[in-house]
Amino acid sequence: MKHRVFSGMRPTGRLHLGHLVGALDNWVRMQDTHECIFGIVDWHALTSEYQDVEKVHRNVVEIAIDWFAAGLDPEKSIVMIQSQVPQHAELHLLFSMIIPVPWLERVPTYKEQQQQLKDKDLSTYGFLGYPLLQAADILVYKADTVPVGEDQVSHIELCREVARRFNNFYGPVFPEPQAELTKAPKLPGTDGRKMSKSYGNEIQLSEDPNSVRQKVLTMVTDPARVRRNDPGNPDLCPVFDLHRVFSDEEAQKWAAEGCRTAGIGCIDCKKRLLEALIPVIEPLHTRRIALEKDIPGLKEILFEGSRKARVLAEQTLDEVRQAMRIKYTR
Ligand code: TRP
Ligand code: SF4
Repeated sequence: MKHRVFSGMRPTGRLHLGHLVGALDNWVRMQDTHECIFGIVDWHALTSEYQDVEKVHRNVVEIAIDWFAAGLDPEKSIVMIQSQVPQHAELHLLFSMIIPVPWLERVPTYKEQQQQLKDKDLSTYGFLGYPLLQAADILVYKADTVPVGEDQVSHIELCREVARRFNNFYGPVFPEPQAELTKAPKLPGTDGRKMSKSYGNEIQLSEDPNSVRQKVLTMVTDPARVRRNDPGNPDLCPVFDLHRVFSDEEAQKWAAEGCRTAGIGCIDCKKRLLEALIPVIEPLHTRRIALEKDIPGLKEILFEGSRKARVLAEQTLDEVRQAMRIKYTR
């Protein structure tokens, strides 16, 4: 039997190149080898954005455009909106009966996020339950494979513990899903720090090629290369990190040698990077423009994906209700 995949993203903003090489490219590939369900997890977004619900609403369509532009294909995968499949919430509620609060308090992202997002009150019940809702997202489809980044490992571990505890109490219903770690090359933003919306240093997937050119040409480089004939060290340069991800061997060799010997200037080096990067961005941009022309059609695809998801999720809930003795028949 084909392995079943679930993964999701929170609709909190537009996606950037880091999401593409860190997750989306991998999802697109998995569509041909796995049975995939991808969720726009708007309830998860609300755990931290509950004071800006309009933003979450808008970003559901935005993220769907980014996904389809990057190559997610509704003919191959189920693409759904979490809040349109209430079975996620029902399963979350039932899990909440059996999961001790300290299991959730111990998840490292809980305190980390509270520390990092000091301007938001994250002392809510829903925020504590974030990883439990995530476990419900995965287990409601009995997915066994969860492609995620390193930062999500503790959540998948919790998900496995939830499945185990449920199965111990009520009999075998759930698989214990595996995280499939995306070998994400770490992608620097234009200022050299990790590419992230919170730093404002990102290259968005929705950006037009000219603006990508602008950003790359003004990107920070190895600070040792002040003048054109100062040699540099590509290992200390964020532009070279992008070469590693997007350029072929030959271009990488050319850039590294030229940098160390001051044989090339940084502008030459960046132009060569753009030769590899623009062909990645350009088709995304073209597809985005087409998708934006038919938002009603795009929403229809999400509704249809959510409908298919409800059918699968309801099968699991039926078993769960039976196992927990809350299924009643006349
Ligand atoms: N927590 C994930 C993130 O921030 C998003 C997410 C929610 C998710 N539910 C999921 C990822 C289920 C994988 C599976 O990236
Ligand atoms: Fe960076 Fe290239 Fe300039 Fe070297 S030549 S510092 S790798 S941009």
